[in-house]
Amino acid sequence: ILKDGILSVPPVTPPEESIDNAKFDFDKENSTVSITVVGASGDLAKKKIFPALFALYYEGCLPKHFTIFGYARSKMSDAELRTMVSKTLTCRIDKRENCGEKMDQFLERCFYHPGQYDSQENFLELDKKLKEHEDGRVANRLFYLSIPPNIFIDAVKCASTSASAANGWTRVIVEKPFGRDSESSAALTRSLKQYLDEDQIFRIDHYLGKELVENLSVLRFSNLIFEPLWSRQYIRNVQFIFAEDFGTEGRGGYFDNYGIIRDIMQNHLLQILALFAMETPVSLDAEDIRNEKVKVLRSMRPLRLDDVVTGQYKSHTRGGVKYPAYTDDKTVPNDSLTPTFAAAALFIDNARWDGVPFLMKAGKALHDRRAEIRVQFRHVPGNLYNKNIGTDLDLATNELVIRVQPDEAIYLKINNKVPGLGMRLDRSNLNLLYAARYDKEIPDAYERLLLDAIEGERRLFIRSDELDAAWSLFTPVLKELEEKKTVPEYYPYGSRGPVGSHYLAARYKVRWG
Ligand code: NDP
Ligand code: BG6
Repeated sequence: ILKDGILSVPPVTPPEESIDNAKFDFDKENSTVSITVVGASGDLAKKKIFPALFALYYEGCLPKHFTIFGYARSKMSDAELRTMVSKTLTCRIDKRENCGEKMDQFLERCFYHPGQYDSQENFLELDKKLKEHEDGRVANRLFYLSIPPNIFIDAVKCASTSASAANGWTRVIVEKPFGRDSESSAALTRSLKQYLDEDQIFRIDHYLGKELVENLSVLRFSNLIFEPLWSRQYIRNVQFIFAEDFGTEGRGGYFDNYGIIRDIMQNHLLQILALFAMETPVSLDAEDIRNEKVKVLRSMRPLRLDDVVTGQYKSHTRGGVKYPAYTDDKTVPNDSLTPTFAAAALFIDNARWDGVPFLMKAGKALHDRRAEIRVQFRHVPGNLYNKNIGTDLDLATNELVIRVQPDEAIYLKINNKVPGLGMRLDRSNLNLLYAARYDKEIPDAYERLLLDAIEGERRLFIRSDELDAAWSLFTPVLKELEEKKTVPEYYPYGSRGPVGSHYLAARYKVRWG
């Protein structure tokens, strides 16, 4: 459907509708959705979940009848929860509008129940309160587990046995980390499945909710020009880059147990890779897309330690300011070898991608903050103009850059003639800069994902077989790194990261973008 020059794809109706498969019908007067944020006193709830729920409310995306409950051990009244939540709500959607009134209306629908995560009794009390708000309507319940992973199962057990919906659907959003390796992830899945069916589990990877990641499939499958080029025939290499210009400050305790490979590569970057490399799905239905993604993950060549470089940031003084080392964090052991940077060369052994290096790089405390996909195309055979560009062949090739954040953009580097009487070539960008093209704010990833979970749309959530395949790829190398006590290459806070990542790229004739 073309609307205002924008292609909108009609939603696909799933073939069969059980209660758990049914999409929420917003028009139903007699339905309600109760959203319980488990761990409501925590960082993620304050920073992301409540603001995203408010944004959905502001945009009119929440159903008519809904209630939001915060649940955690901290003692708080409804009023105290509202005060806490109000501090992180912003009017970012339309800055011209005073959204104070909407905020008040939203906060009136927020409540709090204090309780332990392993107490059936406390969850029964919650159930009673939810029922009061549901007021005899068909009750659908969404639990968002915004708690540390060691208490996931306790909370799921109690929520499912003492507070699940009596006559509507019950869904549970689970935050990463989903285990530390294949074994622990499989154990977590097994435990979750004791209490929930797979289609009740919504494993969140918030990178899948980012606008430019969502756009990846649109770019590929709705433009004639890209898909024919999307293979080893025309693509020389693909790079997935994640960089943050700040360290693990405040999250060192969590991070030291995981490291950058588990924190970013095994999930966010690998998910983007799977979407990037998958075959055309049969339809836009969640299962069709996830089937294709899982095939990519299963076709990946086992990752060798030789194809991995790790780093850890060390202290650095710049402009009179001393930036800390990773191990300066009090919650991190002084002799920690946990990588805060990693680069890896991956390969997909299928007909489309045979031999194409897929390079990943992720790091904390680097010189800039960005998340990008860079696609470097092959050289033009027999290029007539190559001499004009110089000796460096790399300069002449086309590159497609999908900048996920910040300053969301898609641009294609092309060669063109510099205007004038001479014949000099230049490199320019055909540029779709979102801020220039669209005046509306881009929704936060959590808004899209929460809305999808309410609507029962699973396309952007991770299925258990995807998770297994993702862990199979990284577990052996993680084990080897840990068993061999591999010392990471130290790089100064705010630098470009370990030089080893450039050697790794050079081995595959790649230069990082
Ligand atoms: P927090 O550490 O802030 O924990 C959330 C809440 O859980 C706390 O407010 C606390 O509530 C309770 N809690 C904390 N530690 C324990 C414990 N040892 N035993 C029992 N309860 C505990 O976590 P975040 O909000 O940062 O993250 C929540 C989840 O989301 C985690 O799984 C995290 O890995 C994941 N995540 C977080 C991100 C972030 O940016 N923060 C980003 C991506 C994922 P109370 O004491 O009141 O019960
Ligand atoms: C989280 C990681 O999943 O993603 C963090 O645990 C990281 O370490 C964060 O900082 C990055 O998310 P975003 O959306 O800010 O790029």
